[in-house]
Amino acid sequence: MAPNTEGEAPHNNFDTILVLDFGSQTSHLILRRLRSLGVFAELLPCTTKIAELTWKPKGIVFSGGPASVYDEGSPHVDPAVFDLNVPILGICYGCQEIAWRIDSKNVARGEAREYGHADVNVTKVNSHVDRLFAGLGDSVAAFMSHFDKLISLPKGFVVIAATKNSEFAGIAHEEKPIFGVQFHPELEHTPCGTDLLRNFSVDICGAKPNWKMGDFVQLEIARIRELVGDRALVLGACSGGVDSTVGAALMREAIGDRFKAILIDNGCMRLNECEEVKETLGRHLGINLTVVDAEDLFLSRLEGVSDPEKKRKIIGSTFIDLFEKEAIRIEKEAENTPNSGKVEWFLQGTLYPDVIESLSFRGPSATIKTHHNVGGLPERMMNGQGLRLIEPLRLLFKDEVRAIGRQLGIHESLVNRHPFPGPGIAIRILGDVTKERVDIARKADHIFISMIKEAGLYDEISQAFAGLDTSRSVGVFGDQRVWGYIIILRAVRTKDFMSAEVFNFDNAFLQEISRKICNEVDGVSRVVYDLTSKPPGTIELE
Ligand code: XMP
Repeated sequence: MAPNTEGEAPHNNFDTILVLDFGSQTSHLILRRLRSLGVFAELLPCTTKIAELTWKPKGIVFSGGPASVYDEGSPHVDPAVFDLNVPILGICYGCQEIAWRIDSKNVARGEAREYGHADVNVTKVNSHVDRLFAGLGDSVAAFMSHFDKLISLPKGFVVIAATKNSEFAGIAHEEKPIFGVQFHPELEHTPCGTDLLRNFSVDICGAKPNWKMGDFVQLEIARIRELVGDRALVLGACSGGVDSTVGAALMREAIGDRFKAILIDNGCMRLNECEEVKETLGRHLGINLTVVDAEDLFLSRLEGVSDPEKKRKIIGSTFIDLFEKEAIRIEKEAENTPNSGKVEWFLQGTLYPDVIESLSFRGPSATIKTHHNVGGLPERMMNGQGLRLIEPLRLLFKDEVRAIGRQLGIHESLVNRHPFPGPGIAIRILGDVTKERVDIARKADHIFISMIKEAGLYDEISQAFAGLDTSRSVGVFGDQRVWGYIIILRAVRTKDFMSAEVFNFDNAFLQEISRKICNEVDGVSRVVYDLTSKPPGTIELE
């Protein structure tokens, strides 16, 4: 999982805090909080062998985790981590790990889970240990979620914080910069959490808070140039989404016309999408997008297929067939021009959450989804066409990608665009896909999204769309009985797309949308609004 070249990897250019992940659902939030402070942070599994690290972190955070330090097979850090002589902060399970390593009797199996808000009283010791809570006052509100707890103070440690139920809610080594807290500073419910993480990373670890997108962009452009060299061509799929657009903009900046942007129209895109994306990329970024019209091919391969995973596989492999063709076409076209060369690279807009999922101690099998980028799609291209992957955004979170997009002058309407899945409307049709059904869903979606935009709600919603249920429902239009499809509207709010809540529209507004769709889209007899959060639902219908 190391970046393609170490040379310009951010941890070689920015002071970096290493987060060792014990499998908590919130480990990534520790990174986000640190990065929001301008301190670069990377995540690795807790079982990482320290001798294999090619860089030295300024400090290390042990995350929380669902296991009990006693369980057989429970995760433990490589003891060499303590020999690095850098500050360590253990959070929840991470704190228990520190105490358990010193003496397993320090931690007791929990009898009751302590979950929720707690008032943490800070204990002043008048030594270096006071630095973790410096400036936070005598008492802080914090979020606790633990089962096992510390029952005695590890040898050499002092208490720096306590709650009503936890005598050792915060501990620190008397001499070494090793700290542990039983609560979760990375959660919003711990309002002083960011300050505590600043105290740790900046004041205790001495990390310079200089992680700036501008510097990252320059370093990444240099890294791309070094990787790709003077002659190779890079093929990139541009869907018009923020990730692929920012990726394309970086490639264009780095290697100019040797970057070849392709949009394959799989016949399941949104209304007027291909023309709009081509126009916007050309006008704003000077990228000459080639649109490959493959609607007939995709729809014929999808005929009669209703299983969502089969749809994804068919669409994925058809994309690859066409990219392979395009790679050959591009090489031929480039022959005898100043840009002649081989297509050696394939641009992919992988983001850090995907990388984290595959790195997480919970392991890829437990968490990764077939549709996510990491390790999936282009294996065949790599073997067949000999392509290598280039992933300039693989260390970034979505909001960081958006920040780069703004910095590169990408229009706000593109930067804030709701995500759209690669298989498009095909996985928003419950049942088999036909052109008629795609057209109906597409028109309904256009009405829904346009009304959301007109109402000024687009940026409050993380993702919205209209899907189509292929079962039919009876309706009356005038005196006529109709037997039409059901349109399912979905709109959710989410930070990380791992969980999501339903967006609360005004009822009258929903009724207005329903009326407009029934009136203007032939073949629809009913409109419903999906009230399922994620979990248990997923964001897409399939
Ligand atoms: P789910 O439906 O898993 O969606 O809750 C989470 C996010 O992933 C997107 N998604 C996909 N993206 N190909 C993609 O490129 C897919 O097959 C796919 N399925 C879901 C979804 O739109 C949401 O943003």
